[in-house]
Amino acid sequence: MARAKIALIGAGMIGGTLAHVAAREALGDVILFDIAEGMPQGKALDIAEATAVIGTDVSLKGANAYEDIAGADVCIVTAGVPRKPGMSRDDLIGINLKVMKAVGEGIKAHAPNAFVICITNPLDAMVWALQKFSGLPKEKVVGMAGVLDSARFAYFLAEKTGVSIQDIHAWTLGGHGDDMVPMVRHSTVGGLSLPDAVSAGMLSQGELDAIVERTRKGGGEIVALLKTGSAFYAPAESAIAMARSYLLDQKRVLPCAVWLSGEYGLSDLYVGVPALIGANGVEKVIEFSTNDDEKAMFKKSVESVQGLIQACKDIDASLA
Ligand code: APR
Repeated sequence: MARAKIALIGAGMIGGTLAHVAAREALGDVILFDIAEGMPQGKALDIAEATAVIGTDVSLKGANAYEDIAGADVCIVTAGVPRKPGMSRDDLIGINLKVMKAVGEGIKAHAPNAFVICITNPLDAMVWALQKFSGLPKEKVVGMAGVLDSARFAYFLAEKTGVSIQDIHAWTLGGHGDDMVPMVRHSTVGGLSLPDAVSAGMLSQGELDAIVERTRKGGGEIVALLKTGSAFYAPAESAIAMARSYLLDQKRVLPCAVWLSGEYGLSDLYVGVPALIGANGVEKVIEFSTNDDEKAMFKKSVESVQGLIQACKDIDASLA
């Protein structure tokens, strides 16, 4: 059987890391696409040379033309610009919306059967716009944020409790922003829900509250440390987990930004919820039970996402 073809649209920090991980895992042949000339070709050649050491039989190619993504099975989109000091939220949306238009049209023309994973921020609005611009089926266009946010939550819990990261299951729902909803009752340490873990003395309520807050601000913590960019290792691993579940039909349940049509009482928007990813894309949305507090937090987060989507519609009338 032919190897899968993975097109990485945007070959910056996350794109390059995605290419490296995909090549190490032999997940498929990789096309690194970017508007910058030479850079994707250079990264592709560097990683291709590394495959001789790793011993994986995959090809890597850099590209500046959408023709090269033809027939891709998976497209992972990181193209865009990061928010710079002094740039307003709407400035960022305006710039990245234009990028999503170009990327969406490129995917529509050359890789209409792909499973598309968007990473570009502001995530929940950009994945919504990418689906509109590409016209691909909604179950084949998803956003990566929840796997990353949940990974941060899980890591902080492992660090505090001393329990193996393998025995921690953490979940965050909602938009990819400071008002995301870490699901304390549904997350487990060694099989115990977090309230039960507090009762069992594995961590204090104060420590749990601090972890929830740190999770919400996890992206900013990395930006403050790096000073010149944002996180890329954990975001790349998170998107690879989603791509792998699709390519291998693993049917993993992963928190992703997916199109909702009635689930959680919401319609016509993308927001982070647990989704079963298999060979058909998003095959099912899992609905967690929510208490009043969780409902209120989720509502606030959804309102932020709706605000971002409205800003997109205000900027580009074709989306209204
Ligand atoms: N088409 C293709 N590539 C583009 C386009 C475009 N229209 N516009 C910009 N790019 C490329 C840039 O040339 C750059 O190489 O997108 C790449 C983005 O890479 P980085 O700036 O290194 O950003 P990265 O850290 O990879 O993050 C990418 O993910 O988490 C989000 O907020 C983050 O939106 C950002 C995205």
